[in-house]
Amino acid sequence: MKIMIVDDETISRKILIQKMVLIGTCTAVDDSLTAMELFDKALKSKDPFDLITLDISMPKMDGRQLLSIIRKKEKDMKIPKNKKVRIIMVTSRMNVSTIKECIKLGCDGYISKPVNRYQLLGNLGRMGFAQPDEIHHDDEKTHAKIIATIIRRFYQGDIQLPVLPGVVTQVQRLLEDKDSTIEDLAGLIGKDIHISTKLIFIANSPLYRGTDKVEDLHSALIRLGMKAASGLISTLVARDLFKSKNKKLNELLQKLWLHSFACGCLGKKLAMELGIRNPDTVFLMGIVHDIGKMLLIKSIADIHPEETFESMEMMLAIHEIHTTFGAVLLKKMNFLKEFIHVAEFHHWNDFSKEDEKELLVIHLADYLAARIGFVFFNIEQTEDDPDPDIYANLKNLESLKQLGLSTGKAMEIADQAKAVIRESSTAF
Ligand SMILES: [Fe+2]
Ligand SMILES: [Fe+2]
Repeated sequence: MKIMIVDDETISRKILIQKMVLIGTCTAVDDSLTAMELFDKALKSKDPFDLITLDISMPKMDGRQLLSIIRKKEKDMKIPKNKKVRIIMVTSRMNVSTIKECIKLGCDGYISKPVNRYQLLGNLGRMGFAQPDEIHHDDEKTHAKIIATIIRRFYQGDIQLPVLPGVVTQVQRLLEDKDSTIEDLAGLIGKDIHISTKLIFIANSPLYRGTDKVEDLHSALIRLGMKAASGLISTLVARDLFKSKNKKLNELLQKLWLHSFACGCLGKKLAMELGIRNPDTVFLMGIVHDIGKMLLIKSIADIHPEETFESMEMMLAIHEIHTTFGAVLLKKMNFLKEFIHVAEFHHWNDFSKEDEKELLVIHLADYLAARIGFVFFNIEQTEDDPDPDIYANLKNLESLKQLGLSTGKAMEIADQAKAVIRESSTAF
């Protein structure tokens, strides 16, 4: 495989070469103009590059410009899609809108600096490239090997993906139909005793509690409303994905569920505070934002039942790739684009005005959930060692700034939600 590394920083160029020589022959250059010359030359001599890693910020011509020039040249030359060079953008700023722009311009993947081996493996897997041999030749069952296997199987379609039961799409269709009524929804859900009982229970939980107790499905649906009810039905179905017959695994997934549920509740509260159109959609976004972690944990446990998920390295590896896995999974489950963006970008911290409000809210909710004790695994903060300077950190959160919330208000919402989250989580 023929690879070109384009990066103006000596250190990151070196790191990339180090990783890339394992999979191909590398040429490294420090500016876009030279890169373009080499690209043209290789194409002319019928020995084109297979892969280019492209630093986004470079003097003279930046990575974005070079990307669009390359794609234009390929288009003019009528090079078929599968013959086009694969391009991975490399960025030190986790800027969502820049990445979205690059995706539009035609990049195949992106990684953030400092370049991480798992992100790189994930990208190679997605593009259908072979993984470095050294990983598989190693006899030891290292974390890298386990993760590399999962990535390979995932992109080859060898991992069984969970499916959401048909009831979710039926409810969705009902919602789209303007003439549908609560009676229609009751008719559809009434057949499912598990979901019906749960909905009645939830209507009486602190999340939705009214003055008197709701006793039947119809009254529960009236209290919840069509939109909220449909979001809750999806949540109930999603809840089952966070379960396992294996006790240890179930405990781990339960912790992930609690974190997701907290994120959903906080997201909803923040959305209501900010006047965002559909707080119940934001709730569901919180529920599924870390769905990639669920899939990874279950897949790893399937292949390696002895894995305990106790090592820092394993959890970090899961953390590095869960966003792309989550995005792919939600896409396969036919979720809307906004949901897929939340799964993919919720760990970035360089947002702009153009980013969806819902994404910003989930970013903030994810942070707040960990702050009030619903942490799953976080590289920066753990329950035993909460950051002593919460407000200072919160103040620097780009999502908080873009949403125009004060740190005081955000913490007030989080503190109020804490008890409700604990109480209501059992309803699911
Ligand atoms: Fe996450
Ligand atoms: Fe999270």
